[in-house]
Amino acid sequence: MDPSATRGVFRHGRDLYTHNLIPGRRVYGEELRIESGTEYRHWDPWRSKLAAYLLKTPDAPSFDRVRSVLYLGGAHGTTVSHLSDALPQATIFVVEKSPISFAPLLALSRERPNLLPLLADAQLPERYAADVGLVDLLYQDVAQRAQAQIFRENALACLAPAGEGLLMLKVRSITQSLTTRAVLGAAKRELEAGHLSVRESIELTPFSREHLALRIGS
Ligand SMILES: C[S@@+](CC[C@H](N)C(=O)[O-])C[C@H]1O[C@@H](n2cnc3c(N)ncnc32)[C@H](O)[C@@H]1O
Repeated sequence: MDPSATRGVFRHGRDLYTHNLIPGRRVYGEELRIESGTEYRHWDPWRSKLAAYLLKTPDAPSFDRVRSVLYLGGAHGTTVSHLSDALPQATIFVVEKSPISFAPLLALSRERPNLLPLLADAQLPERYAADVGLVDLLYQDVAQRAQAQIFRENALACLAPAGEGLLMLKVRSITQSLTTRAVLGAAKRELEAGHLSVRESIELTPFSREHLALRIGS
């Protein structure tokens, strides 16, 4: 198991792993692997766009200065659980609006003290901004029509001045009539209106044909 460029993320051949914060526990049926007395969880890029991004980017983020995270669209916690492994000292606020998805997220957070789940709508950051404060990393994966606007408003409310962002931009189902390039252009304009710049955009094929990962700075 070799360390990768990203804090808390390891490589074994072509695969990514994180150090299991709760040894013996799987979150989504993933492979567990013990090496030199340490247990790792396989991070499946077909199930997690962040894993797909880390495998595909030529310039992976280090996350070295990340002490707090705002994660929008936690779902059942697949990706959240790997961030929880990778950043055990960080505080990770996880917003999810579906009560059905929130239940497993809540159960996950009972085992993992660095997770703070919030049953809330990411379109209304004013409802949770005071609890969250300013974060070092804003991550969004909500598959909503107004996804760039949601990111911009959350960055305005909660992203620290030198903070970084990752937006998993759904390019297919927003509208079938626009090309990926047009969707990306519209998202860039929306983000720039909030003084955010897109530093990198990475296609997540073959893992996801529907998304681009945008790395965003302020
Ligand atoms: C594609 S899933 C997220 C998968 C997750 N990020 C992962 O990798 O494990 C999108 C999630 O966003 C949630 N969502 C959609 N719109 C939202 C909103 N406005 N506020 C909060 N959550 C939202 C959905 O309920 C769903 O659970």
